[in-house]
Order: sequence, then C-alpha cells, then structure tokens
Amino acid sequence: MNPSSHSPQQARDGHWVFGYGSLIYKVDFPYRQREVASIEGYARRFWQGSHDHRGTPDAPGRVLTLVPEPDHVCLGMAYLVDGEVFAHLDHREKNGYERRQVSIRLRESDLSVAGTVYFAGQDNPAWLGPADASEIARHIGRSRGPSGSNRDYLLKLARALRELGAEDSHVFELEQYLLQSAGH
Ligand code: SIN
Repeated sequence: MNPSSHSPQQARDGHWVFGYGSLIYKVDFPYRQREVASIEGYARRFWQGSHDHRGTPDAPGRVLTLVPEPDHVCLGMAYLVDGEVFAHLDHREKNGYERRQVSIRLRESDLSVAGTVYFAGQDNPAWLGPADASEIARHIGRSRGPSGSNRDYLLKLARALRELGAEDSHVFELEQYLLQSAGH
C-alpha cells in the first residue's frame, strides 16, 4: 500500500490515540482498531511524577512522558477510539498530562494519521525531570500507588516494548538497574 495521509473516512469514524507508556499494555477502554505505530520527534522519559497511579501525593512515583527529541522515532500503539473514550482517558491521564495533536505513523497500514497523544510538559506541577538512571530506578523500585507498584509499570512496559521490537535504551537501562537491585 502506498503511504498516504489521514483519510476523511477515519476522521468521521473515530479518533486515533497514540500510547507510549501504560496505554500500550493497560488497555481499559474500548477501541475499534489498534496498530503498532510511531511518532517522530519525541522520546519517552521517566521524568513525570505520579501522585495518583504509581505513587501518592506525599511520595510520587515516576512515570513516562515525552520529551521533544529531533529525529527520534518513538514506537508505541495507536488506537482508533470513539470520542466518548476521551472522558475516560482524560481522567486516567489527569496528573499533568494534556492532549497534543501529532502525526501518527501506522506500521502495518503504512499510513500517517492525525491523532492525539497525552503529553506532560516541564511546566506541569507533577514534573520531576531528569536524574541518573540508577536514581530513577531506585525511585521506581520504592514507589507504589493506587494502580499498583511503580516497578510493575516499568517491567510491563519493558516487556511490551520488547514484544513490539522497540529499541529504547532509556527504558531498558532502567529495567536492568531495577532487576539488579532486586537481586535478579
Ligand atoms: C501513555 O501511555 O501514552 C501515557 C503515559 C502513561 O499513561 O503511561
């Protein structure tokens, strides 16, 4: 199939959402279609605090956001959803994330579609920013919140990325630190 861009038919039928973190492996919303996909110009980083899922207001965990990185390709999963699904997603991603419009490349269909990504920028109140990989891994190792341990978030993500064939040195390095520190 030739590469082409967002068709009017898709715009009428639903909205594409690109997941790069927990939205890859924790799919608690209905979708019409999903496809391995990528966005360009962003890299995933464990630089966002989590007060509501993998940590608490007193002891926030560390979860993913995207940071602009020219020429970088971030692999994830795209979902075609009905508009009503955004109420659920906005609630789930409420701790500092905002919706951003991006161009999503669908791998199998070889199509570019317009879609939405949840992005937490440096000016949001839950932003933690960069730290050494070993420190981020220790932070993840000790954090827990209503959605479970921060450790699970990282390990499930790493497994899902491996299944997609993604290369992500940031995530895999953190996974290594976490497993080493746990004596594996
Ligand atoms: C996402 O997965 O796309 C957003 C960040 C997260 O919920 O982990």
